[in-house]
Amino acid sequence: MILEILSFATLLALPAILLAIVVYAALTVKRAFFSPLSTIPGPFLNKLSNLPLRYHTMTGSYHSYTTQLHAKYGEVVRVGTDFVSLSSTSDTRLVLATHAFRKGPSYTIGMMLAENSFSTTNPELNKVRRRQIGDAFAVHTMRAVEDLVVDAGANSLIKVWDAALAEQGDKARINYFYSFHRAGFDVIGALGFGQSFNILQTGNTEVIDNMQNAIHLKVLTSMIPFSRFVPALFKEEKQSQNATVQLIRDTIDMRKKLISETGKPPQIDVLQKFIDAKDPVTGEMLADKSLMSEIFLMLVAGTDTTSNTLSWVMMQLMHHPYVYQRVTEEVRTTFPDTSQTISFSEAKSKLPYLSAVIHETMRINPSVAGFLPRCAPAEGATIQGHYIPADAQICVSTAACQRNPRTWKNPETFDPERFLGQDSAERLKDLLTFSSGVRVCIGRNLAWLELYTVLANVLRRYDFELPEDAPYGAHKLSNLGIPVEIPSESFIVTSPVNPKVNCWVNVSLAKV
Ligand code: HEM
Repeated sequence: MILEILSFATLLALPAILLAIVVYAALTVKRAFFSPLSTIPGPFLNKLSNLPLRYHTMTGSYHSYTTQLHAKYGEVVRVGTDFVSLSSTSDTRLVLATHAFRKGPSYTIGMMLAENSFSTTNPELNKVRRRQIGDAFAVHTMRAVEDLVVDAGANSLIKVWDAALAEQGDKARINYFYSFHRAGFDVIGALGFGQSFNILQTGNTEVIDNMQNAIHLKVLTSMIPFSRFVPALFKEEKQSQNATVQLIRDTIDMRKKLISETGKPPQIDVLQKFIDAKDPVTGEMLADKSLMSEIFLMLVAGTDTTSNTLSWVMMQLMHHPYVYQRVTEEVRTTFPDTSQTISFSEAKSKLPYLSAVIHETMRINPSVAGFLPRCAPAEGATIQGHYIPADAQICVSTAACQRNPRTWKNPETFDPERFLGQDSAERLKDLLTFSSGVRVCIGRNLAWLELYTVLANVLRRYDFELPEDAPYGAHKLSNLGIPVEIPSESFIVTSPVNPKVNCWVNVSLAKV
């Protein structure tokens, strides 16, 4: 009886199912071949479905995938049913220049605490927030916090590497990826949480693990939205998220308590700037949840971005011995007095070759390599003769832009010289590593402060060389005759794959 009812129901439902399939197929064909995007070149499958794009975004290969697609299809590529990717710097700059191209809806998926300056797709909120917290990353603030950054960054690295040398002898084997990563968190601890997390020196990575789990949870809940309401799912991740939120709450409470007890903040740092943040136009301060969300963002946006840049610099130096030779010579002859810490302003103004090395690393290994979707404006946009309608999104592939042979000569070659010549100022304009326009990275002054002080001081103090068993290095050449880079994966931030194996160097005290 039940079977009869079921087969009768199936019979009734069959036409509806068939109709749905036909309608879906017709809409897919219409979108693929009869929408304004249909004239834009791209792989056949990507016109029919967003699955290839999602696959590459979720497996961390978006940056290399889009670079390959642009090499094959040109500077404007249809990468999904309603997604277009660009590899021309000038087109990309145009998209990023104003709020006309808003951030796409994926920025808000699985949002934690409250909207923040990075996640908001609302231009008005972003403008208010940038006015409120901009001062925390201004040049004058960076000058005030330089000692904190140097202590938690360069000086801590030196302490830990010196201790490794004392233990291991003339040469110590260190993992530069984990060292820089931990230093990156310690710097953000010192500036945003009242004190260094001391991860480098204690090896206690709880803060890092909790933050990474919290981000993992964001990704999981965006893929499986109902999981938020099932307590048994992703228990560990949820505990980590709670621990991170609690850490932020405790930090703010402790600072406020200190101020109420002593009448003044114990130090000027980014945390204090956030607590005091006031919109100079409206006088509005940050509400509690927004304050917490901005501090959480600092932990996410201010750590791996900078520390991975340091790792990519180290990888490139180890792969290009003549560049390494020249940069260490520059640092050591310019600053021979090893008892003096090299300051940010000294390093920036007196070490042009180091600057060129950092810029070239940021070009070829940008630590934020792409996706960053933007919505086309209501009236649509025309890029290189292609009309992009309002319901389409434009992806920013920094990786593809910065390896575009129409913009960069021999783009696959690591060549700091390109940032030294007469047209180096022009070259710098083509770098999109910190993005560009109205949503340009707000923390770039802090990133520069950390990059220069760490690199200048450790390159002067230590000699670095790859261990004999290093899987990648100057010895391993591609068919272009250039060193094969450590493979990378990009989950918003681009990291070397398998750093446990790939990111070792031997350090010894510099022979001067
Ligand atoms: C080398 C290091 C860094 C790189 C390469 C980098 C890169 C970027 C990029 C590409 C964006 C634009 C993202 C988008 O449009 O979706 C961005 C935005 C942002 N970055 Fe950075 N960043 C770095 C360091 C930092 C640091 C140290 C902080 C703060 C502690 C920070 C805070 C932010 C914030 C708050 C935004 C959002 C700005 C907005 O949307 O208005 N970044 N960063």
